[in-house]
Amino acid sequence: MTLPVGLDLDGRRVVVVGGGPTVVPVVHDLLAARALVDLVAPWVCEDVAALAVRDEIGWHGREYAGCTDLLDAWLVVVGSDDVTTDTAAHTDAERLRTWSVAVPGTSSDTATARLPRTTVATTPDGAVTVATHSPDDLLALDVTRAVALHLETGGVDLRRRSPRPGTGWVALVGGGPGTDDLLTTRGRRLLAAADVVVADRLAPRAVLAHLPATVRVIDVGKEPGRHTVPQEAVNDLLVAEALAGRGVVRLKGGDPYVLGRGGEERLACEAHGIPVEVVPGVTSAVAVPAAAGIPVTHRGVARGFTVVTGHDELPAVPPGTDHTVVLLMGVGRLARSAAALLAAGRPADCPVAVIERGLLPDQRVTVGTLGDIAAAAAVVGVANPAVVVIGDVVRLAPDWDTIVHEVEPAHSERARSTSWSDPLRGRWVGAAVSR
Ligand SMILES: C[S@@+](CC[C@H](N)C(=O)[O-])C[C@H]1O[C@@H](n2cnc3c(N)ncnc32)[C@H](O)[C@@H]1O
Repeated sequence: MTLPVGLDLDGRRVVVVGGGPTVVPVVHDLLAARALVDLVAPWVCEDVAALAVRDEIGWHGREYAGCTDLLDAWLVVVGSDDVTTDTAAHTDAERLRTWSVAVPGTSSDTATARLPRTTVATTPDGAVTVATHSPDDLLALDVTRAVALHLETGGVDLRRRSPRPGTGWVALVGGGPGTDDLLTTRGRRLLAAADVVVADRLAPRAVLAHLPATVRVIDVGKEPGRHTVPQEAVNDLLVAEALAGRGVVRLKGGDPYVLGRGGEERLACEAHGIPVEVVPGVTSAVAVPAAAGIPVTHRGVARGFTVVTGHDELPAVPPGTDHTVVLLMGVGRLARSAAALLAAGRPADCPVAVIERGLLPDQRVTVGTLGDIAAAAAVVGVANPAVVVIGDVVRLAPDWDTIVHEVEPAHSERARSTSWSDPLRGRWVGAAVSR
């Protein structure tokens, strides 16, 4: 067993024996620790030469000369690629009662100390170095990488220990369309550092259940037509929490900047000098059609798409069915939006799909045309949240041909069911399809 220690090398002399590429990472770590590095080697690699040219290290361009090279050193780092030289340097260091370490990847049998493998975690309270010690260097490396991944992906609670006024922050995190596995790694990492999470209704709420009990979750979920917390109140809340010195994640559905009022929240915080990070999310405008097998563009079928709120009167959009229109919040005014597109020149047989609760276990898809989608939606009782896709790309949905050919026009008012596999999850998703 060895005793793990941290050495304060600031302003202290460290001798490095060897100048090849294997010593480079250690030399950089020594310089980061503000050690005074003297390097002994008859030749050096380009990186070491560059450090010597910039006077960041002292380079003695010759063979190792024995104990005299190590006098006054607090630490000796050995990695010359020559076993005789390395053994001599370790032995001399021991004679002088100076600790010696071997650079990773070289023999460490005669070294008196061992370098750990390390990773650095950035937390709201500063950087933390995690060091892994093991006689088996590869094992130490594997464990360190696993810890780094765990830190990176937000698996470790890095919340600040106590709020300090003036150090608060806000992150507007796009959570994707509702499933927790479409939240980005960056978003997860910020959640692991937040003191307060302000969550939307359509955010991936499953992640909230895994937050430590000390994290305050504030639910500002808005039902359509029932704005439980007005936008101004949400802005004020973010500002107040951050000004109190807390880290705040504003967890939103989809992408914060796609019909999500993220811009307003950012401006409100910045007006108070609060640092804001905006983390993009997977938008439902693209992901929900994809979950129903509908690409919003497709070579030879559609070259572009428009995302628009269906909550208000539709703006002008290209009339051709080769331009995809995606309506968010479009259920309430579906009949009026369809009528507006017909009036603007889209043909009545332009395909339409309404995807409710996309990517969630009870996803349902209703297909029709501009001429009959409102009636079809009424038959099956389409409800929010739903994405409406309008254009030729809808024909690319799995089973579209079967649906169209199998169902008699006389039965067009009747709802029927079908299902198709969800490529993202490799399982079957039930879908009621009406024609
Ligand atoms: C206020 S907008 C926010 C959109 C979000 N910023 C985005 O990028 O997805 C809310 C609308 O997004 C759509 N939506 C979000 N998640 C959805 C889901 N899982 N399934 C269907 N529609 C969804 C619905 O149209 C809903 O009314």
